[in-house]
Amino acid sequence: MKNITVCIGSGCHVKGSRQIIEILQRLIVEEQLETEVELEACFCRNKCTEGVVVHIDGQVFTGVSPENADELFRETIGGKGR
Ligand code: FES
Repeated sequence: MKNITVCIGSGCHVKGSRQIIEILQRLIVEEQLETEVELEACFCRNKCTEGVVVHIDGQVFTGVSPENADELFRETIGGKGR
């Protein structure tokens, strides 16, 4: 099981964490990875200036945006777009 955790603290929220969660949710369904990928939200990770902060299996990714969330998913989780 892979884990994706998106920061929804106020700093990341204003940078689009809600949209990022929606994009990731859609990709998980599209790729039929519901049983393999767990999506969670977390509070501030103290990297607000580098947000949005996303953890994938313990690895930290900063500067995630609704524009590059798709690419991050493809690179880390995979799926048809690989
Ligand atoms: S709000 Fe996301 S790191 Fe602070």
